[in-house]
Amino acid sequence: MNIQEKTRKTLAELGVNDAQGVESLFAELRKTAEQERAELVSRPASDQLHRERLCRSLRDRWLARKGGFLSQVDENWLKTAGKELKPVAGRQFNELRRFAACMEFEKLVEAVPLQPEPLQQTNLSPASDAGRVVPGDLTLPGLRRPLGSIHPITRMQREIEEIFLRLGFWIEGGPEIESTYYNFDALNIPESHPTRDDWDTFYIDAKTVLRTHTSPVQIRAMEKYGPPLYIIIPGKCYRHDNPDATHYPMFHQIEGLAIDEDITFADLKGTLDFFAKMLFGEKVRTRFQPSFFPFTEPSGEVAVSCFVCGGQGCRVCKESGWIELMGCGMVHPEVLRNGGIDPDKYSGWAFGLGVDRFAMVKHDINDIQLLFQGDVRFLEQF
Ligand code: PHE
Repeated sequence: MNIQEKTRKTLAELGVNDAQGVESLFAELRKTAEQERAELVSRPASDQLHRERLCRSLRDRWLARKGGFLSQVDENWLKTAGKELKPVAGRQFNELRRFAACMEFEKLVEAVPLQPEPLQQTNLSPASDAGRVVPGDLTLPGLRRPLGSIHPITRMQREIEEIFLRLGFWIEGGPEIESTYYNFDALNIPESHPTRDDWDTFYIDAKTVLRTHTSPVQIRAMEKYGPPLYIIIPGKCYRHDNPDATHYPMFHQIEGLAIDEDITFADLKGTLDFFAKMLFGEKVRTRFQPSFFPFTEPSGEVAVSCFVCGGQGCRVCKESGWIELMGCGMVHPEVLRNGGIDPDKYSGWAFGLGVDRFAMVKHDINDIQLLFQGDVRFLEQF
């Protein structure tokens, strides 16, 4: 029999016939009150209204004139008590009343913590359930937390990683705060050479930069593992571009690097063509045009035939039929040497692509800023 049921019975019915029995009965009641109070303040309420209702229902449970524990006790234990038990029951009852007053039900509201605001309202809003909550009702539905989603850039990065992982590449990383040696010198971009200007660099001090590309990790990986090497390197890069629809001072690149014996430009073309078809569909064609990077020789730009219009010309490819994908080339012998690899024995290819651009092309996003503003209305579309 729980204490609630006990308050509905007389002392005689409960078989309590001495002072000690009365005292332990009241003690049980006080303990229950204490427990219920502790339980209330230990669990956060979903909002202000919910919290007031929780407190009110606890107060009513104990103090309601009709049916509250205290009035039940008065009615069933006190009034019906025999002569011998009446004094002790009366004393205990007064103590219980003082105890209940100490629980300060009205002020309890402040003691109940509030749940942090959910980021997003769902249909099952906690507020709509507030009125029905009473302590201990386990049949109530739980509060549903809104689910987040994967950021379009992370998603794009994972898609690209997946393709190269299937080809046997592994994923390598490096620091975003980089030395000028790894970011430039080791990549055959000497100080005072005009080509250094191509990277709008944030300098931390004369020898330290925010990496302007993921290429420094090429050297780090060569030093760390030696040949053969088949890796991709995803990561954040920084350049002091003025923000506009296609520029942001922080962006994401994925670098690819393959070094082994007998690696030729044909390997580079074959791999990147396969990659483009996996990502954009079997039908796309790739185009390689000569370009220049100090760390590759020869160097190229890769474009893919527009996967939206098939090369006819449309908004996505800006009427050209082609979408620029990345820079690439055969690793410069000097760069191999800087990484501790013998260029007479080994050769390799490398590429670098912009993940943000890939995501923008794929989802037809016309402003790079949208990717980094953290606006849920934009992000929840992915
Ligand atoms: N690191 C070059 C860039 O940002 C891209 C690249 C990587 C080109 C590897 C060729 C080979 O701009």
